[in-house]
Amino acid sequence: MRIDVIALFPEIILPALQVGILKRTQDAGNLTINVHNLRDFTADRHQTVDDYPYGGGAGMIMKPEPLFTAVRTLSRDSTARVIYLTPQGTPFTQSLAEALSLESHLLLICGRYKGIDERVRMKLVTNEISIGDYVLSGGEIPALVLIDAVGRVLPRALGDYESAQGDSFSQELLDHPHYTRPAEFEGMTVPEALLSGNHEKITEWRHEQSLKRTAEQRPELLEKYQLTEEDIAYLDSQKPER
Ligand code: ADE
Repeated sequence: MRIDVIALFPEIILPALQVGILKRTQDAGNLTINVHNLRDFTADRHQTVDDYPYGGGAGMIMKPEPLFTAVRTLSRDSTARVIYLTPQGTPFTQSLAEALSLESHLLLICGRYKGIDERVRMKLVTNEISIGDYVLSGGEIPALVLIDAVGRVLPRALGDYESAQGDSFSQELLDHPHYTRPAEFEGMTVPEALLSGNHEKITEWRHEQSLKRTAEQRPELLEKYQLTEEDIAYLDSQKPER
C-alpha cells in the first residue's frame, strides 16, 4: 500500500512513522508513506496556502490551487482514494480501517484553519473522515491515527497475526483483561481460570470478561452483538440482586 499525506506540518507526523509496527511494515515493503508539505505545491513567491473567506467571518480558508496541484501531482500514476480529515466527516471505525487497508493508494489531506475551499471537496475528495466528535487544530494527528489503524492491519504488519484478531472491535466486543507475571503483585492475584491451563475454561473466562466490560463501558455495542443464551444468562448473573 502507498499512502501520501498532504500537510502544512509534516513534522507532526514524521517521527511517529519511525517506530514500532508502522516502521516494521514499511521496512518489510508492505507500506510506503510519503508526507508532503503543501507549501511545496504553491506557485507564488510567498508560498501562500490560505486566504480570507468570501462572505467574511473569522478564520482563514485553505486555497484551492495548491491542493489541486498536490492531489493531481500525487495521483498521476494511480487512482488514489482521496481522504479529507475533518470533524464533518463520517466516523472512523475499526471496520473502516480494515476496508481502507484493502486499497492500494490513499491520499490524505490534512486541513488547518477553518478548512478547505469547497471546490476541493467537490472535485477531488472521495471520502471525508472524522476521528471523533471534538475539534483538533489540524488534520495531522487525525491522519496519523488513520495511518496507524490502517497500517497495523496490513498483512504481515504484526509479528503475531492472531494478536490483531483478538483486539477490541475485531469481534464487536471490548477486549478482555490481560495479566502477565508475577502471579501475585501487591496482594492482587491473577484470576484462577487463567492459571488453570484449561483452554476451554480460559476461552470462556475471556469471553465473559469481554461481555462484562462491554456491558459496563459500551452497552450500546451489545445491541449490535448476537448474544447467545449463555451470554444472556451470564450477563443476568452479573446484575446486582434486587
Ligand atoms: N480535524 C480537526 N478535528 C478533526 C477530527 N476530529 N477528525 C478529523 N479531522 C479533524
